[in-house]
Amino acid sequence: MNVLVTGGTGTLGREVVRAVNAAGHRAVVMSRKPAPDAAAAPRWATAHIVTGEGLAAAVADMDVIIHAASDPRGDPAADEEGTHRLAVAARAARVRHLIFVSIVGIDRIPLPYYVRKLAAERALADSGQPYSILRATQFHGFVSVLLGRAASYMPLVMPLPAGYSVQSVGLEDVADRLLRAVDDGPGGLLPDYGGPERMTVRQAARLWQEARAIRKPMVPFFSFGATSRAFRGGHNTLPADTPPENRGRLSWSEWLARTTAARP
Ligand SMILES: NC(=O)c1ccc[n+]([C@@H]2O[C@H](COP(=O)([O-])OP(=O)(O)OC[C@H]3O[C@@H](n4cnc5c(N)ncnc54)[C@H](OP(=O)(O)O)[C@@H]3O)[C@@H](O)[C@H]2O)c1
Repeated sequence: MNVLVTGGTGTLGREVVRAVNAAGHRAVVMSRKPAPDAAAAPRWATAHIVTGEGLAAAVADMDVIIHAASDPRGDPAADEEGTHRLAVAARAARVRHLIFVSIVGIDRIPLPYYVRKLAAERALADSGQPYSILRATQFHGFVSVLLGRAASYMPLVMPLPAGYSVQSVGLEDVADRLLRAVDDGPGGLLPDYGGPERMTVRQAARLWQEARAIRKPMVPFFSFGATSRAFRGGHNTLPADTPPENRGRLSWSEWLARTTAARP
């Protein structure tokens, strides 16, 4: 199948492109940038989901689109408006299936970015384009970045939000789950998908410190508001009875060992 991967240059998108090709499909990377070289050009589409530039050409002849483009810190229109535009273009081109990568808990946690992801999900569902939505928990690498920020925030201690949990997931596992969705066809809102184990942020931070040879006392802090309450309620994680097919295999400890070994 021809599979267009929007955000194919991004953290998840690169892994998805690899997995799609390894499964015998033909992945085409969609990016706002031009192809890096002539060798990449046949499997590259330059398009912008907000302005719509290049979009009709990018989606033409595609069987499936895996939509992993997003701009959390940049253009706020990238999610809702961008997803709407992409869905309209896909429908016009008779693309069989558009799979949108979303985030576990966006309907319960009122972070501004999550509110935009939820609006994007609704725009897709209302578009008439056959679709699936896969909500994933935080990626291991993203949790590691957040812990790195927490560790460098204050000189002597590492502040951590009290009562928060994480259930981070490996990129290959999410990519494999997306491939399953390609095979299954349009399924609407799919069951939430996440990492193999749920941990308190403190447990995750302790393992992170050990792996990175950092020793800093962890100090819990309490925050107020609906977003913090929702995180303390565990809405960014999976229910305990989630079946194995909706959990990735790569644990936080394994990911830490792998990435620590890879560091210079
Ligand atoms: N990070 C997490 O922990 C996490 C967890 C669950 C779900 N997700 C979701 O997974 C998806 C992928 O996340 P990620 O961390 O891999 O993102 P990322 O590394 O930031 O990559 C996003 C990609 O989107 C593309 N993009 C941005 N604006 C665009 C536009 N206007 N038109 C076309 N392409 C555009 C960029 O490509 P170019 O710069 O090449 O144009 C970029 O490579 C997102 O939808 C995110 O919400 C993330």
